[in-house]
Amino acid sequence: MNAHQVIFFYSKTQDFKFNTLYTDYSATTNLDQILQDRERNENGKSVYKKDENGNVILGKEKKGVPLSDVWEIPYLNPKAKERTGYPTQKPVLLLNQILNIVTDEGDLVVDPFCGSGTTCVSAKSLKREFIGIDISQDAVELANSRLEEMIISESNLLNKGTNEYQEKTEKELAILQNINAFPVQRNSGIDGFLKDHFEGMPVPVKIQGEYETVEDAIEKLEKASYGKDYKMKILIQTRETGISRLFGFESDVTIVKSLELQTRDLLKKNNEGITSVLQNGGFSASIKV
Ligand SMILES: C[S@@+](CC[C@H](N)C(=O)[O-])C[C@H]1O[C@@H](n2cnc3c(N)ncnc32)[C@H](O)[C@@H]1O
Repeated sequence: MNAHQVIFFYSKTQDFKFNTLYTDYSATTNLDQILQDRERNENGKSVYKKDENGNVILGKEKKGVPLSDVWEIPYLNPKAKERTGYPTQKPVLLLNQILNIVTDEGDLVVDPFCGSGTTCVSAKSLKREFIGIDISQDAVELANSRLEEMIISESNLLNKGTNEYQEKTEKELAILQNINAFPVQRNSGIDGFLKDHFEGMPVPVKIQGEYETVEDAIEKLEKASYGKDYKMKILIQTRETGISRLFGFESDVTIVKSLELQTRDLLKKNNEGITSVLQNGGFSASIKV
């Protein structure tokens, strides 16, 4: 049995859309590969670009890795709610990928053999206009009922990735995603980079680890950034820890409290406010300071 399927792409004219989708770097990609510019040497080999002093040159802003032509989209799990019982049903996630490449929001998608309506469900979820056609009355009814319910299975494989090197927790990945940063693996000093550059340079981000003090985290971030001319470095503070020691070096790391920590601070502050109002003979527990 084939373990893969091949998708053919045809266009009647040269005038067609083919958007480049970007994915996160694989966990095996090291920082140098992501950050540094490359050029061909005299033997045609790709090498890191260096300036006249022999220092490596950091590359331009990168959006991630362009989607390759091998996609890992799992078959629908036999118990998936998305399953309609239609024998040749395709996963919506597959159609999402195809439509994201060849259409933009508002475009019209036509599937003249729509079967259980997967293309239409995908088009609707991605805000495309759509027309589904099928010779079978049952198929049309099924497609219409799916369009009303819009059940789309999540894929753990796609969400988490297949990479065994993945070492970030879901919480860390969420923090990085919230600040529009992509994760990097296998580096204890840098957890990710902002997708936008600052003053033409990449911005490394570290998330304070569960057992790390703020100072340790800053030191690791500084060490991992050594020799790179970053104009901004960000530490996401995740825990309230007092200053445990003084630095033996200068640091210009910007500390940003995680949303969770900010929320905890807010609750603490409001609770203290309420307590102090009550202690001062307060008459209303709803007063906040
Ligand atoms: C392979 S199925 C499509 C399944 C679909 N990709 C899905 O995810 O459910 C092909 C469909 O083409 C329909 N079909 C076959 N001949 C047709 C024709 N001449 N006009 C319209 N639909 C036709 C069949 O009824 C069947 O539902």
